[in-house]
Amino acid sequence: RLAPRSATVSRLQSAGQMGLTGTKLGCAEGGCGACTVMLSRYQTHTQQLLHYAVNACLAPLCSLHLVAVTTVEGIGSVARKLHPVQERIARSHGSQCGFCTPGIVMSMYALLRNNATPKMADVEEAFHGNLCRCTGYRPILEGYKTFTVEGGCCGGRGRDNGCCLANGNTESPSLFNAADFAPFDPTQEIIFPPELMVNNLTHKKCVVPARYNLKNSLTKGQGSASLRFHGDRATWLQPASLDEFLRLKWKHPDARVVVGNTEVGIEVKFKNMVYPVILAPAFIPELNAVTHTEDGVVFGAACTLSHMGAVLRQEVETRPPHQTQVFLAVLEQLRWFAGLQIRNVAAVGGNIMTASPISDLNPVFMAAGCRLTLMDRDGSRVVRMDEGFFCGYRKTSVRPQEVLLSIEIPYSKKTQFVSAFKQSPRREDDISTVTAAMSVTFAPGTAVVEDLRLSYGGMAAVTALAGKTAARLLGRRWGEELLQDACSSLAEEMTLDPSAPGGMVTYRRTLTLSLFYKFYLTVLHKLREQGLNVEAVPSDCLSAAEVYHPETPSGVQIYQAVPEGRGQDDVVGRPMMHLSALKQATGEAVYCDDVPLYENELYLALVTSSKAHAHILSIDSSVAEAMPGVACCVFAEDIPGSNAVGPITYDETVLADGQVTCVGHIIGAVVADTQLAAQRAAKAVRIQYEELPHIITIQEAIAAQSFYQPIRTIESGDLEAGFKQADHILEGEMHIGGQEHFYLETNVTLAVPKGEDGEMELFVSTQSASKTQLLVAKVLGVPANRVVVRVKRMGGGFGGKETRTTVLSTVVAVAANKLKRPVRCMLDRDEDMLVTGGRHPFYGKYKVGFLNSGKVVALDVSYYSNAGNSMDLSLSIVERALFHMENSYSVANVRGRGFVCRTNLPSNTAFRGFGGPQGMMVTESWMTDVAQSLGRPAEEVRRLNLYVEGESTPYNQILDQLTLDRCWDQCLQRSGYQQRRAAADLYNRQNRWTKRGLAIVPTKFGISFTAAFLNQAGALVHIYTDGSVLLTHGGTEMGQGLHTKMVQVASRVLGIPCSKIHISETSTNTVPNTSPTAASASSDLNGAAVVNACQTLLQRLAPYKTLNPKGSWEDWVKAAYFDRVNLSANGFYKTPDLGYSFDTNSGRAFNYFTYGVACSEVEIDCLTGAHKNLSTTIVMDVGHSLNPAIDIGQVEGAFMQGLGLFTLEELHYSPRGVLLTRGPGSYKIPAFGDIPTQLTVSLLRDAPNDKAIFASKAVGEPPLFLAASVFYAIKDAISAARVESGVSGPFRLDSPASAERIRTACCDRFTKLVQ
Ligand SMILES: Cc1cc2nc3c(=O)[nH]c(=O)nc-3n(C[C@H](O)[C@H](O)[C@H](O)COP(=O)(O)OP(=O)(O)OC[C@H]3O[C@@H](n4cnc5c(N)ncnc54)[C@H](O)[C@@H]3O)c2cc1C
Ligand code: FES
Ligand code: FES
Repeated sequence: RLAPRSATVSRLQSAGQMGLTGTKLGCAEGGCGACTVMLSRYQTHTQQLLHYAVNACLAPLCSLHLVAVTTVEGIGSVARKLHPVQERIARSHGSQCGFCTPGIVMSMYALLRNNATPKMADVEEAFHGNLCRCTGYRPILEGYKTFTVEGGCCGGRGRDNGCCLANGNTESPSLFNAADFAPFDPTQEIIFPPELMVNNLTHKKCVVPARYNLKNSLTKGQGSASLRFHGDRATWLQPASLDEFLRLKWKHPDARVVVGNTEVGIEVKFKNMVYPVILAPAFIPELNAVTHTEDGVVFGAACTLSHMGAVLRQEVETRPPHQTQVFLAVLEQLRWFAGLQIRNVAAVGGNIMTASPISDLNPVFMAAGCRLTLMDRDGSRVVRMDEGFFCGYRKTSVRPQEVLLSIEIPYSKKTQFVSAFKQSPRREDDISTVTAAMSVTFAPGTAVVEDLRLSYGGMAAVTALAGKTAARLLGRRWGEELLQDACSSLAEEMTLDPSAPGGMVTYRRTLTLSLFYKFYLTVLHKLREQGLNVEAVPSDCLSAAEVYHPETPSGVQIYQAVPEGRGQDDVVGRPMMHLSALKQATGEAVYCDDVPLYENELYLALVTSSKAHAHILSIDSSVAEAMPGVACCVFAEDIPGSNAVGPITYDETVLADGQVTCVGHIIGAVVADTQLAAQRAAKAVRIQYEELPHIITIQEAIAAQSFYQPIRTIESGDLEAGFKQADHILEGEMHIGGQEHFYLETNVTLAVPKGEDGEMELFVSTQSASKTQLLVAKVLGVPANRVVVRVKRMGGGFGGKETRTTVLSTVVAVAANKLKRPVRCMLDRDEDMLVTGGRHPFYGKYKVGFLNSGKVVALDVSYYSNAGNSMDLSLSIVERALFHMENSYSVANVRGRGFVCRTNLPSNTAFRGFGGPQGMMVTESWMTDVAQSLGRPAEEVRRLNLYVEGESTPYNQILDQLTLDRCWDQCLQRSGYQQRRAAADLYNRQNRWTKRGLAIVPTKFGISFTAAFLNQAGALVHIYTDGSVLLTHGGTEMGQGLHTKMVQVASRVLGIPCSKIHISETSTNTVPNTSPTAASASSDLNGAAVVNACQTLLQRLAPYKTLNPKGSWEDWVKAAYFDRVNLSANGFYKTPDLGYSFDTNSGRAFNYFTYGVACSEVEIDCLTGAHKNLSTTIVMDVGHSLNPAIDIGQVEGAFMQGLGLFTLEELHYSPRGVLLTRGPGSYKIPAFGDIPTQLTVSLLRDAPNDKAIFASKAVGEPPLFLAASVFYAIKDAISAARVESGVSGPFRLDSPASAERIRTACCDRFTKLVQ
């Protein structure tokens, strides 16, 4: 089948059974970059080779005629030879789970193919379209800096030449040594296939049959041939000439024109649009031409945005500045337009013709009065882009038979000023909240407005001109009076209905004024610079007019090197590379969906509920079952065992039985021979519902008293006495939004029935192999010993694959059991986000009593979590929130209550931190309130309240080996807190519209599963007679480097190099009854079990060592074998002395605590709500690190995930419980540009931990909360802004501190105007 809707590059690979699995699918909507490949094309008219990165997921197969595709496998491999781009990301620790890595490698590779000596700014631009959820990005940039003119770490070789080691950073060696990297030789790259270099422009018709052999068709002589591809649902026509294009459009007026496919691809995949005829004019010369006229530059409609950018940059360099104002505005919009992969293919014509109300370019084109040439078979006409051009939502005045030929972007006039603005939740690769362009022309030699055009996107169903306001200001002088009138007029003219799509109505209206104010200041400043008699821009307002230009981030990592003299073979404590990193960088690492197809394998697609709460009246699957390729449908009655499942409480169904309790509740599934057939058929299943009342939000749950039982309480001291003792009492509340895990690899299961005794083997991307085994066995009605679950590695987990993976794996198992054939399903990103839940939203309500000194003496806090439609792990999560309700502060009298709200959302679940971050976030809110109400510096109040050694927590655990004070003092000192504070205060006095804020925040994270029985682990170690060791343990690898650490541990105990030890996978038939890989405790638990097994083996080998002390490891192994010694041993570990009871508030809840402190500084733009992360300094106590590279990777990755949680990521649900944010297009995780400009991570020295393996500490979750320092730095900056408006004292700021919340909290004259 060659339907353009499915024909992506990745499918080309699997369809061709080429076994190329390196290109990953993370979203299928161009938003994550995991699928990045490089395309190369010979351009006949310029005789140039073009190399460019694209998103394979949006690249139609049919568009690849005469194009060479290079995937990650094409540039190097571990088996052959690594490409330096692959090697450097791996050795610089830039790959954790590795699922994003091939895409990042290919973005970098494409950059180097075009520019072998890029600048860091080029590298940063190249990554605008790539996301990574694990690393925090810093190591990737660090590794790739070595390719740039700026150069990376010299490993100490350049000590005389600005080397950081010579500049004071002598505390620890670099985490990698660039001197080890293979040199990069750009002359050695693979060449472009000569057979694709076609000069001969024939107009021969070339009809490609459905069973089309791409390889054979790529022969010389077909350069601009007309091509026709027939699919079962669409025909793709590639005209060879403009004439032919016009004729085809005349014949097929409803045909969709496709150039970059970045709009149409999304419509087809996600909006179920079917376009029977597609016209692909991408290679028609006239549509790609760039011509210079007297008035401006004319771009053919198919010019890509990258090409347009390059031409305009050239113009800006060569023309007088006054002529290029419009070009600069276009370039400013292009800077933040999608990612490079999109800009490389998306056409300017596509952006105009899509007519999106939030297009970033159309406002500029409208403000500049650009002219469009439209053409049909009979001729052409020129229209101006004005209020008449966009005539409705996604509608233009272009006639159906017409095409857009070109756009003319004019030179600006001498007295004209143009600016463009884009405000979006995330700067990089995000759609606009409001986008605007403004152009003013003055009467020569005056400041009197002759022409004014204010164009806004995001304020109506079309890109809108504020015509009335502009008309009112004509003939007026540019000055304060004009500003005031402009703002009042805009406030009247740019209104929005309270229910306008996209929400944020007040914020968007405020932005229209704020952005105009920025334009006003910019123009005023320029007029003044030109010597015109206008008011001077007050110096404290200048920063409001600055255009944001990112600075290249820099990082310092400090750790304790292993003591000198320790043998090189002992790798514990050394920054060893993740053992799979090289394979991940080359695409050779095997993930669950890379398991080769079984011959008779089928694919499964889910049928899910569209109602939040309803009775199912009927299910009609007859149409679906009759569709081609469909093997069967699966519903509740097909479950042979029990339909009642759940990780702890069996309160869920595998497949809905009569009732659905959330949108996304799995009702059934369709199994077919291909993914496409299954997914199409799943959409054809008709379900009738009778809707029931639903509860969506925490507030609705509180109102309905809809709680799961029990309601947890931890109480200590005497609350009443505490409040009596207090000098002040304040109350407050806070809401903390949920978070999507956004592991780059979505959920996937392959179930293979073995044909006898009910046996089944499952390959699952899960953190809980044993839980999956038990639930699948329960559902199939077989004993657990018939089910084997195997996990090689995951492309990220973060808690999201602890329990919710079973919602998919049980269904796939039922289908495989019913059909007795292998069945596979990898969820699409939107399905994964819809079905699997995420971090619990929390609402916290507090009353806090404190003394004049700032000492907190009483706390009464209630937490409400939104658990969704089943219990899952929600009770344990709210318990952990309670265990962290005082964060790192000693409070004598406390009561904390935890309510788990039952709602009609998909069940929320574990997520890195497991309720702890939400618990501590509320703590820091009341701590900030206390400081603000006393008018005292927050850091002083925090320091005053910090725990000291020997104090007891509210759950009666004595704190020993406390390092909080050391972390705190070092963080203050390393961050230069006092100097920063003084500088920020000065900055704030000097700047009205940009403010800086600082915060230093501690964390204390309890290590252990709070369910005591889970604190156990097993290991199995085999020594083979050649001396090689196969190590298995109960933990799973999800990128966190657990397997690497376990090999390091075994290597130390056995006294052999890591190269002799291998971990193949985690499986239930090697180590049984494992706990999930969670709670940060997997190195502690599994590490101790590995030690246990290895020690057993060492004891067995001891006699042979004694007999032959000079012998080798292999000699002893062989001797033992011939002496009939068992060379296989299992190991076991359980954490001693654990077991907390809520009934008695006694017993140890945690084995120990991991501590850390972070100090962050931010700058906010009070007018837009945007913020910059200026610096973060983290000091983290991870004991004696087993592997500082991995631990620092965890600190940075967790910090960035926390940064997303607290400042960026927002899940939106409709009032009827439909998740609206279902992919990277609408749900924004931090990108490369969100890293703090200065990031210092330091692991506390000399802090051994006697309670875990080799004196180390757990690290996976604890650092996440430290990102709260950014949130509270933002709050600090907002406070400074509020003071300007005469408002002071505590105020509520919910999490995340989104641009909308920041802007709204900075109340000022503009916010008042729209209220
Ligand atoms: C991940 C992602 C990020 C994005 N980010 C942004 C962003 O930041 N800002 C923004 O504004 N947009 C953004 N977009 C939207 C999109 O990329 C742009 O609108 C792009 O310019 C569309 O160009 P295209 O060539 O890919 O269009 P296509 O999908 O190929 O076509 C789009 C439409 O234009 C019509 N069309 C194209 N050429 C002609 C012609 N010559 N004559 C008549 N009709 C024609 C087609 O019929 C079709 O309806 C993003 C899209 C994605 C997927
Ligand atoms: S899979 Fe293509 S960009 Fe995400
Ligand atoms: S390493 Fe980047 S997503 Fe996991």
